[in-house]
Amino acid sequence: MTSQAIGFLDSGVGGLTVVKEAFKQLPNESFIFIGDQARVPYGPRPMAEVRRFVAQTAFFLVSKQIKLLVIACNTATVAALPLLRERLSIPVVGVIEAGSRKAAAVSKTGHIGVIATEGTIKSHAYQQNLTAIRPGATVRGLACPQFVTLVERGAANLPSSSAKVKRQLRPFKTQPMDTLILGCTHFPILRTAIQAAMGPTVQLVDPGAESVAIVKQVLADKHLLADRDQTPTAQFYTTGGAAHFKRVAEQWLQRDNLDVQHVALTE
Ligand code: SIN
Repeated sequence: MTSQAIGFLDSGVGGLTVVKEAFKQLPNESFIFIGDQARVPYGPRPMAEVRRFVAQTAFFLVSKQIKLLVIACNTATVAALPLLRERLSIPVVGVIEAGSRKAAAVSKTGHIGVIATEGTIKSHAYQQNLTAIRPGATVRGLACPQFVTLVERGAANLPSSSAKVKRQLRPFKTQPMDTLILGCTHFPILRTAIQAAMGPTVQLVDPGAESVAIVKQVLADKHLLADRDQTPTAQFYTTGGAAHFKRVAEQWLQRDNLDVQHVALTE
């Protein structure tokens, strides 16, 4: 069991921000990732539809004998974490709890912002988690769906994207806030532009990266950590075009020759 891979699912390439952190914190582990790019974005879709899609990608990963599942997508965590925890016999880790815990711990003023998809913002999942951990915290949410599109197109580093990020975040510039949660796993890819738009006094929290520490703890508790002498592997699947995914993934992960395959999921 310890040599089995950890599975990661996302609507697209955003979950690679979690994989990047996992490469650092879990260097002996093998990974299998699936991005549902044929149906990205999940953010504007009804939650019942997202839940159906996430169940498909999760069962695809389970068919590859993973030992733990990471829902590396905030919208998918909102839609399907309870369902998958109930249905699967392996541990399932989402991203919202870890991000809330970190933001509640690092914010000095208790004024916390969340940027995410429409689905995540409408669910108030971060507000609920944050106020449960830190009663009295002021939580402001802003939906930034265009950020997902910029990242999926591979346009994150273009100067025009920085200008779009700045424009979109303008409503938050006038709000008192010392901490901003990047409540969509696509957003760390725009981190430089987001930090520049918000200014140096606002601390950014990346829930995906925070959730990797939880993954490590769960694997340790269950005696599932890979042996040190194991040679780790990484496989990537997309329901979209493999060539485009490979380009974005190799650039973001700074790795060559990634094993990327297209997979078609049927309902
Ligand atoms: C999306 O597909 O709209 C983004 C997924 C996320 O919430 O991380």
